[in-house]
Amino acid sequence: MSEYQKFKDECAVEIKSMGSDGDLLASTRDWINFANLKKYSYHFEFLGRPIIQYPQDMVAMQELIWEIKPDLIIETGIAHGGSLILSASMLSLLDYCDAIEQGTMLDPKAPRRRVLGLDIDIRAHNRAAIEAHPMANRIDMVEGSSIDPAIIAQVQGIARGYERVLVCLDSNHTHEHVLAELEAYAPLVSAGSYCVVFDTLIEDMPAEMFPDRPWRPGNNPKTAVSEYLKKHPEFQIDKDIQNKLLITVAPDGFLKRVK
Ligand SMILES: C[S@@+](CC[C@H](N)C(=O)[O-])C[C@H]1O[C@@H](n2cnc3c(N)ncnc32)[C@H](O)[C@@H]1O
Repeated sequence: MSEYQKFKDECAVEIKSMGSDGDLLASTRDWINFANLKKYSYHFEFLGRPIIQYPQDMVAMQELIWEIKPDLIIETGIAHGGSLILSASMLSLLDYCDAIEQGTMLDPKAPRRRVLGLDIDIRAHNRAAIEAHPMANRIDMVEGSSIDPAIIAQVQGIARGYERVLVCLDSNHTHEHVLAELEAYAPLVSAGSYCVVFDTLIEDMPAEMFPDRPWRPGNNPKTAVSEYLKKHPEFQIDKDIQNKLLITVAPDGFLKRVK
């Protein structure tokens, strides 16, 4: 067995132990609730664009993108564009690595791997900043509701041209909306890849955290995931990811397509 594999095996034991440590999980939940009062997840940037994510989840996305090597990442919920830039920059590194391995030249004008972002309201200043970013040439944006049948048909058409597809859902966080997004976009996920459903943690937070939002415990991405999985055994929750991260907005939201 390689040294790397020995190290990974040790890590797997430690990660399992963290995931079953009630005190650690409870103190993590407390920390998340306190930090949320300070809008912790709003304070980060990725290559110059604000990204509304926990740093831990950004690392998880980096690990997933490296493992899957997708040629298309579909994201619902653009906001300031930070998550699009994160995905695009990881895809540019994958294209770079391919070029090194194959001994070919990279053509920056025709990037192979792409990101497709959907948002109901792409604010003019965000669109301008994303379009001016050095990663812009591998980003496509579509404005409209992610559950509008015309938008879904457009995304399905685009996805047909790609082999390895990763999906991230991070728009409206109500049960009904996320369930409709799962029905629309999870089938586009290729075998072995993931549908990452963000903000499932709402289920585990106090209801008073969301006074001005329609989502709350009982009506959120996690309830949508559990309803979706009842009829979709082709997806399984990858608990190893959340056990490793501990601090994540997506507990039970890393869905692996197993067949
Ligand atoms: C949490 S933010 C996305 C954050 C972004 N993924 C990031 O990591 O920085 C949610 C976004 O979803 C968008 N949104 C809300 N309802 C939507 C809908 N029905 N369809 C598409 N996007 C929607 C909002 O306009 C907002 O920009």
